[in-house]
This record gives sequence, C-alpha cells and structure tokens, in this order.
Amino acid sequence: MSRRDSRQMRANRILNVADGRRRARRVLPRVVFDYIDGGADDERTMGNNEASFAEVAFVPRMALHVGVPQLGTTVLGTPLSMPILLAPCGLVRVVHPDAGPGVARAAARYGTVSVLSTVAGSPLEEVVASSAGPLWFQLYSGAGRGEAEALVDRARAAQVQALVVTIDTPVLGNRERDLRHGVSPPLRVSAHNAIHLGPQVLSRPAWTVRLARDGLKMARAPRGTETSAGATAMTGSPFHWDDIEWLRTIWPAALVVKGILTADDARRAVQAGADAVIVSNHGGRQLDGAPAALRALPAVVGAMGADAEVLMDGGIRRGSDVVKALALGARAVLIGRPYLYGLAVAGELGVERVLEVLRVELVRTLSLMGCASVGDLGPEWVQSAASSTPGWWGTTS
Ligand SMILES: Cc1cc2nc3c(=O)[nH]c(=O)nc-3n(C[C@H](O)[C@H](O)[C@H](O)COP(=O)(O)O)c2cc1C
Repeated sequence: MSRRDSRQMRANRILNVADGRRRARRVLPRVVFDYIDGGADDERTMGNNEASFAEVAFVPRMALHVGVPQLGTTVLGTPLSMPILLAPCGLVRVVHPDAGPGVARAAARYGTVSVLSTVAGSPLEEVVASSAGPLWFQLYSGAGRGEAEALVDRARAAQVQALVVTIDTPVLGNRERDLRHGVSPPLRVSAHNAIHLGPQVLSRPAWTVRLARDGLKMARAPRGTETSAGATAMTGSPFHWDDIEWLRTIWPAALVVKGILTADDARRAVQAGADAVIVSNHGGRQLDGAPAALRALPAVVGAMGADAEVLMDGGIRRGSDVVKALALGARAVLIGRPYLYGLAVAGELGVERVLEVLRVELVRTLSLMGCASVGDLGPEWVQSAASSTPGWWGTTS
C-alpha cells in the first residue's frame, strides 16, 4: 500500500471531530497534543465554548421538500463553498510537516480560506506558492510597528486577500498543560526538559521521524524570508486601537480584527477601519473567564448591522454547531483544533477529512431542519434548549 493510501485510510477512520481528537492523542507525543488541545488556567472558557452549543436547540420545520441545501456564501467578497474557514494556529509545523502549505491546499480543495498565523512555522511566501486558493494572513507583532510593517509588506507582496489582526494576546495566556511539561513559552525545549520529554517523543516514532526529516528540510531552506516575529510574538502581541488605525493606512485590502467579545469593542474595531470582526476568545487559550464565543455573538451582531461582517470561532465541533452560529448571526465560522486533530492523524488528507465530515454534517442538519440554504438562517431557527421560547440570549424571533 502506498504512503498516500495508508494516510487516506487513517483519515477515513475519522467519523467526527471527537474521533479526530482521540486519534490525534494516540499519534502525538503528549506535550504536542496538550499544546493544541489545552487552554488557559482552569480551561473554563475553553469548556464553555463547546458547552454553549448545547444550550441552543433548533426550531425545525417539517415536511418541506428543500432539496440539497446550499452551503455557498461570500466572506469579504470572496465566494466560499461552505461557511467554514480554517483559523490561524501558531507552531503547527510541530504537529505535522504538512502544516502551512498542506492546510492551505486542503482549504482550497474545499473551496474555503485558511488563515496563516505569523507564528505558524511556515513562511508566508511558501504557503502562497503552494496553493491556488485564497489565503488570509494573521498578524502578531511583539516588537512594535517596524516589525509589523515588514510583515504587512510581505503580505501585500504575496497578495493575500485579508489581514487578520489578533488583539486578544497582549501577553500570552497561562497554559498550565505546557508548564507541566516544562515547555514555556509554548514548546520552547531546553536541555533540562528534553530529558523529561524524551520518553514521550520516543513512544511516537512515526511523528519523531517526520519531525526530524522536516527539521533537516527547514535547516537547508534558503534564509531571508523570515523575520524575528515568530520569536517575539511568543511572549505577546500588544496591539492598541491606534495600531489598528495605523495598519488601516498601510494595508490596502480587507482588514479583520480577531478577538472581539463585546459590542463596544466591535464598534471600536469598525471605527478603526475593520471590514470584519471575529468574535473569539482564542479557543479559551487567553483570558480564562472570558465569555463563550457563541454567547458573545448576538450582542456583537446586533451592534454591527451592515457596518461590518461578523465571523466567530471557538468550540465548533459539529456541522450542527455551524448552523447554530449562523442562526445567531455569524456570516461564517472558523475552526482551530478540529483541523489540527485531522492534521495530526493524516496530514493534509486529515485536514480534508475533517472539512468533509463537517460539510456532510452541515448538509444533513439543514435537510433535517427543512432549511434550504445557509443564507436563510436567522434567530427564528433556534431557541433556548431549556425552554421552548424561540429567540436566544437577546435575539428576537
Ligand atoms: C494550537 C493553537 C494555536 C493557535 N495559535 C493562534 C495564533 O497564532 N493566532 C491566533 O490569532 N489565534 C491562534 N489560535 C486560536 C485560533 O485561531 C482560534 O481562535 C481557536 O482555535 C478557535 O477555537 P477552537 O480551537 O475551539 O476551534 C490558536 C489555537 C490553537 C488551538
């Protein structure tokens, strides 16, 4: 059997995102699994992100012949075949060498967008060259405007469609799973903790061989395309609203602000020049105690009207979760950990598999609800799971 066939077989065993997570745990050293799977402090916000979806029930309509539901939408003028984007994730090259280019290709094959993190571990130019699909670039800068401008120049030269500025990381969240493995800032390995990590790494030989090969490739790669942003942003990226206004003056294409949790901040982002906001608590990896992203969504949607598009991320694990977020006003959602689990299991093919699983779940959910298109979704399609009153958390039916 070819290497591709065996990867495809592994990918096909992922029947849902929870499966992907279980399988990722088996193939990654514990330190790497915990890096992607974990959150800040007591992981309450992370847990609430997922739990909040169970608080919403559908208001289905029966006995309608809606045919195959339409998933297509546009985000900031870019047509997408489904309303699911891949969120920016840092240091993912350590999960699988397919990170970066492979993730972008998987997104393109599914007619959607991937957002490359400043600290993903793969140079922007390499990712753009490897995929024909649209790419967004997520900006961190720990070293001020000079560094940010250099990154923006590269994004402009690479013709990425949108710049995503993440504002919820003035300092890094307290990730205690990483600390327990002795790696902090994330995945910084010293001689001291290498001894502790040795047995974990040796128990995952396939991952170890892949990482070693990739390390050699990186060492041989031509220099000069990277800046020091990866290193500096590892300790935080303290953007101020003035910086967003300044970025608006030097970035000509779509500007997206990520990490919004209140209506006030959403309005502030638009005043500073944002074309879209992403309601997000960074997957619960930053401020533990921040509200679940889904709970924060309706107020932001209410404040935005036609001023800016609203996306959200955090806790999406099923196609039905996507439907709930759209019904509550998100134009599209992003997923983080779900595609990283797929990446760990089968590289690029694993990312495709997770997108396929969510696409099929999305179609089935809409069919069962009697909803013909994602464009038809609105608050009248959901109610509180605890009562049968349509409308939920400030939304009206
Ligand atoms: C391993 C990992 C690394 C991340 N790195 C970044 C990053 O570099 N920039 C950023 O804006 N968000 C980052 N995030 C947050 C994601 O973009 C996204 O907001 C979050 O994962 C969504 O929640 P979910 O994982 O429950 O889908 C990261 C998330 C994970 C899991």
